[in-house]
Amino acid sequence: MERLYTAVARLEKELAVSAILLQGIASRFQEAMTEGLAGRSSSLKMLPSFIGSPTGQEQGQVIAVDFGGTNVRVLLVELAGTGRSRIAVRRAFPLKDKLGHYDYTAVSASGPELFDFIAGKISEIVSDGGIYPLGYTFSFPCRQQGVDKAVLINWTKEIKTVGVESRDVGQMLQAALENRGLERVRLQAVINDTTGTLLTGAYSDPATTIGAICGTGHNSCYLESCHPLTKRPMIVNMESGNFDGVQQTKYDILLDQASEKPGAQRLEKMVSGQYLGELVRLIVGSLAVDGHISSGSERLSVPYSLPTEDISAILGDTSPELEVVAAVAAARWGITQLKVSGYKAIQTIVRLVAMRSARLVTATWAGVLSKIDPGLVRQHTIAVDGALYEKMPGYAEQLANTMVEIFGDKAKKITIRLSKDGSGIGAAIAAATVYKGKYCNER
Ligand code: BGC
Repeated sequence: MERLYTAVARLEKELAVSAILLQGIASRFQEAMTEGLAGRSSSLKMLPSFIGSPTGQEQGQVIAVDFGGTNVRVLLVELAGTGRSRIAVRRAFPLKDKLGHYDYTAVSASGPELFDFIAGKISEIVSDGGIYPLGYTFSFPCRQQGVDKAVLINWTKEIKTVGVESRDVGQMLQAALENRGLERVRLQAVINDTTGTLLTGAYSDPATTIGAICGTGHNSCYLESCHPLTKRPMIVNMESGNFDGVQQTKYDILLDQASEKPGAQRLEKMVSGQYLGELVRLIVGSLAVDGHISSGSERLSVPYSLPTEDISAILGDTSPELEVVAAVAAARWGITQLKVSGYKAIQTIVRLVAMRSARLVTATWAGVLSKIDPGLVRQHTIAVDGALYEKMPGYAEQLANTMVEIFGDKAKKITIRLSKDGSGIGAAIAAATVYKGKYCNER
């Protein structure tokens, strides 16, 4: 009991992000932004989007494809032109079949197969006749060469489909549509999901200057008021998941080294839903190896055996005997018959890992705000989407509280808000901005 207590206290120290660390991360982030924007070496890619802020008057019926991970969504979005939108049709489908019939995310799948599959899903929601503008959210780092041209730099989120890296993913989707005789569906814009989130927030709230995803992956974008390329306002996709200005613990290093791309996406591996469960597993595993808790079975050594939903369930367990924690530990790792103190230790580890994520993310936003509005003179809205923000108990509160810790009273100028379905709706707004007023009237 005593030893477990000591081990947890040590973890608390290792995973803490103190006020001083927050400030240091914010200022390193700000420096990395400046370097990246100037085209100098930086862990922030600072990718141009070729899109500025919306007017709120964009309108029409637009198809949106939202490809952000192993699930793809195809939507028919109606933009009212008054800052309001409605999803008229929504289809979601996995790229990896649970029963193992197909997996378009694996190394055995090719780019054309993947995009043909998506084009097939689009064909299911277009009715006959008419032209459909298409907005396409592709949530991976892309070298944007124009509003509808985006070359995938590298896959993230452990996706491995071959023949897509270094290719224009807009052109690949358009070609797949044409192969299926769907020339009527015309790609207008390819955007990152953070850009979509910002656009959706700004569609109804012009104070929105940052868009972010806190979900399976992590990234933020912001509105640069005078972009070096165009000297006009432009949304910049920072690919902040790749930020390398945060000190890693030994667990972060272990996770990184065993990942698909060691060294890449260092911040994302510390904060996003894809990895939080794995960090917890590595830490609990180390407690078992040190004899602090009995592991029960080999299953604790299976990588990625704790999904994000379980992290949320564990955080939400307020029962005196920690029944949910016990059920998860038994189901995922075969850990049974711990004392309540053992389950409490697991819950504490989950809380430390989840709250560290929220604190690190807030520090990066503080860096952005200090760059774009040094005295925090203006109001700012940060539009966020993703399961961690929407569903993880205590996560959104931790973001807001950390902002107060960093900025004190001035944090009143900052609103952090859910941009529900931001990545999909944002694709439609981007497409409508480009397609300007013709929409489906040409039918
Ligand atoms: C990708 C970003 C994306 C983020 C959130 C990251 O893995 O690199 O492009 O915005 O996930 O989906």
